Amino acid sequence: MNNVTVSRKAHFNAAHRLYRKDWDDAQNNAVFDKCSNPYYHGHNYELIVSVTGKIDTETGYVMDMKVLKDLIKEHVEEPFDHKNLNEQVAEFASLNPTAENMAVVIWEKLRPHITSAHALSVTLYETPRNFVQFSGPN
Ligand code: NI
Repeated sequence: MNNVTVSRKAHFNAAHRLYRKDWDDAQNNAVFDKCSNPYYHGHNYELIVSVTGKIDTETGYVMDMKVLKDLIKEHVEEPFDHKNLNEQVAEFASLNPTAENMAVVIWEKLRPHITSAHALSVTLYETPRNFVQFSGPN
C-alpha cells in the first residue's frame, strides 16, 4: 500500500551563541563570526515535522495530526521557546546549538513517541533562507 507523508509546522523563538569553550575569542570569531557574539542573538525558528507511513484503513490517517501537534508542543516548543539554548536547554550545555545539532536533538526527542512503523524527518529553518533536515542515522 502507499506510503504517505504528513507534516506539521511549528514555531519557536530562541537565543543562542555558537562557540567552543576550548577556543579563544579570536578563533571563535574567525569560525562563527557574529554568531559567537558573547551577548547571544535570537532566531525565529520554523520547524516542519514529517511522518511517513501507511494510511490506516479504519481512520484514513497516517497519524492523528492532533497527536503530532501535541508531541511537538510538549517536546520542542515548551522546552525551547523563549529560551537561551546554551544556558537553559540541557542538550546544548556542551553541544553547539547550530541548526544541524538542533535538528538532530529534536529528532531524537520525538522519535521515541512515534511508532517505529513510521519514518520521521525534521526540517528546521533558522532563517527563511537557511534550513537543515535530519531523517535519522544512516
Ligand atoms: Ni544564530
